[in-house]
Amino acid sequence: MLPYVVLSALLPLLAFAQDGGISGPTSSAQAAGYSCDPKQCKLPNCNCASTSPPGGLQPSDVPQFIVFTADDAVQSYTLDSVNQFLAQRKNPNGCSIKMTYYTSLNYTNYTLVTDWYVAGNEIADHTMTHVGTPPADEVNGNLIALNALAGIPLSEIKGFRAPFLNYSVDTLKMLAQAQFTYDSSAAASIPVTDPDSDAYWPYTLDNGMANNCLTVPGTCQGQPKLPGFWEIPMYAFFDDRGVDGPHLMDPWLDTANGGSTVNDTATLEYMQKTFTAHYNGNRQPIGLYTHPIHLSTTYPGVNAPKSTIDMINAFLDWAQKQPNVWIVSSIQLLEWVRNPVPISQLNNFAPLKCTAPAIDASQHICNGIPQNEAGLLSHCAFSDFPFYTCYGCPSVQPSPANPNPSQDNSTGQARHRISANCSTPFWDPIAGKCLCTDNSCTFTDLSRPIGPNGANLTGGDTGSSFANGSASPSTTAYIPFNGAAPPPLLPYGAWPAIIIGCIGALLGTYGTVSRL
Ligand SMILES: *[C@@H]1O[C@H](CO)[C@@H](O)[C@H](O)[C@H]1NC(C)=O
Ligand SMILES: *[C@@H]1O[C@H](CO)[C@@H](O)[C@H](O)[C@H]1NC(C)=O
Ligand SMILES: *[C@@H]1O[C@H](CO)[C@@H](O)[C@H](O)[C@H]1NC(C)=O
Ligand SMILES: *[C@@H]1O[C@H](CO)[C@@H](O)[C@H](O)[C@H]1NC(C)=O
Ligand SMILES: *[C@@H]1O[C@H](CO)[C@@H](O)[C@H](O)[C@H]1NC(C)=O
Ligand SMILES: *[C@@H]1O[C@H](CO)[C@@H](O)[C@H](O)[C@H]1NC(C)=O
Ligand SMILES: *[C@@H]1O[C@H](CO)[C@@H](O)[C@H](O)[C@H]1NC(C)=O
Ligand SMILES: *[C@@H]1O[C@H](CO)[C@@H](O)[C@H](O)[C@H]1NC(C)=O
Repeated sequence: MLPYVVLSALLPLLAFAQDGGISGPTSSAQAAGYSCDPKQCKLPNCNCASTSPPGGLQPSDVPQFIVFTADDAVQSYTLDSVNQFLAQRKNPNGCSIKMTYYTSLNYTNYTLVTDWYVAGNEIADHTMTHVGTPPADEVNGNLIALNALAGIPLSEIKGFRAPFLNYSVDTLKMLAQAQFTYDSSAAASIPVTDPDSDAYWPYTLDNGMANNCLTVPGTCQGQPKLPGFWEIPMYAFFDDRGVDGPHLMDPWLDTANGGSTVNDTATLEYMQKTFTAHYNGNRQPIGLYTHPIHLSTTYPGVNAPKSTIDMINAFLDWAQKQPNVWIVSSIQLLEWVRNPVPISQLNNFAPLKCTAPAIDASQHICNGIPQNEAGLLSHCAFSDFPFYTCYGCPSVQPSPANPNPSQDNSTGQARHRISANCSTPFWDPIAGKCLCTDNSCTFTDLSRPIGPNGANLTGGDTGSSFANGSASPSTTAYIPFNGAAPPPLLPYGAWPAIIIGCIGALLGTYGTVSRL
């Protein structure tokens, strides 16, 4: 429940920065005018906006979630970029990390969407052509095209993020009507240490919105009422200026503490400080909300600073050394909020488990698994952004007016779009049949019992080692399941503090890649 504090004056109304950043508080208790009765609004399908953990759990029983998301086009460059942060990591149950890709379609390579989804990641909607306050055809056309050309089951596309984080009250209504499960476009813009923090755990809109009340007209004060539809706030980091120094998306591209140049050391410091405030408080999630193209090392002409990449990995190394820290997709977070089991039961919590499709590696089938699909992809050679797909090239590029054009049959036999009752790795789009027809062949569980970082680490001394620029280990080191040493922490000298002109150089070089 929210404290019903009425502020004597509204906090200043501060607009979104152009890339979906924020520059100050986007809500206040008075602007929210929010009330919700937890006796009426109960999990799993109703949750009041609250800074306290769901289900009445004590913070000590609650995992600290780090939500990892990427926005825009899915390409080899952007997946390489995400992989440099996640591929080497595991969660405490020994499973590899899943994340959410808010996908827009311009410049997207559809087969890589299939691959990323089949690897266990969440594919969510970010409009077809990256427009703010999107019309319905941009949002729903994305579902149709992702289903037709990437084989993502419609029922699995559950989330939405607005390009530029620019949504309206109508956007939220439209999403609920199209049976999305959640939106994740609103900012949590006030630190968790502030009694009026807007860092709510994910909540349903049964009683309207409680975030961005100062910036999105027609929301809050009980509106819009969308029962069962969730908002997953995006949790800002705060630099030394506190509430006046928020950093929401790609914080590593911002200057910290009002400085004039990007300083990775300062960024790391405030990211750790904000994380610790969440961790030692009510354990609201924290998020790394990325536009991965900015950190690509493979896109021609983009040279992301190695120091920034190393800094982000240092942050994740540091966070993962602390007990009960999980890096998750938006939908994994939401599954836990809907059914908030204490950390002692996480070992058996299905949404965090790792499952792999039980498919014979020798099967030759275009299914999103690189070893199975080799040689089977169609190349759709459109001039502005060519792409590959398992599902047959469309005769024209998909667009909001025509998200699922008929197939171009001149290049061979028409392929079959995924059947509503088959899951992606089992669908053979060439034969048009499902390889799995009963439960015995679907997915095998590869999870391991919750590991030593959860059960044993105290994490007590991890707060100071980076601030001091040293990599001094805590007394009990993180021991991954495979027994391998954790990735080495960075020596101070490995990431020089100043990256002059980084953003400008990036902006100038990737004109053919979706910007935001
Ligand atoms: C597109 O996907 C194909 C098949 O996986 C891959 O060979 C190619 O490098 C990808 N290109 C981009 C730009 O993503
Ligand atoms: C997206 O692609 C379409 C089709 O090529 C093009 O008309 C449109 O301008 C593109 N939009 C953006 C934002 O790049
Ligand atoms: C959001 O989009 C609308 C319509 O496209 C535009 O008028 C408005 O200025 C945008 N708001 C922000 C904060 O970018
Ligand atoms: C970068 O930030 C660190 C930590 O706040 C600070 O000690 C250092 O002086 C900064 N470097 C520059 C060049 O401002
Ligand atoms: C290609 O073949 C399919 C199935 O035979 C058909 O439905 C579709 O209309 C054809 N597309 C074109 C462009 O002829
Ligand atoms: C899926 O549906 C089709 C047609 O409705 C049916 O022929 C097929 O047996 C079903 N497959 C499974 C796995 O249920
Ligand atoms: C970890 O904790 C468990 C239970 O608290 C204990 O039995 C075990 O010995 C500890 N392991 C280490 C390496 O300290
Ligand atoms: C940094 O580390 C050195 C050596 O371990 C120690 O003497 C010093 O007090 C530390 N400084 C801070 C600010 O923690």
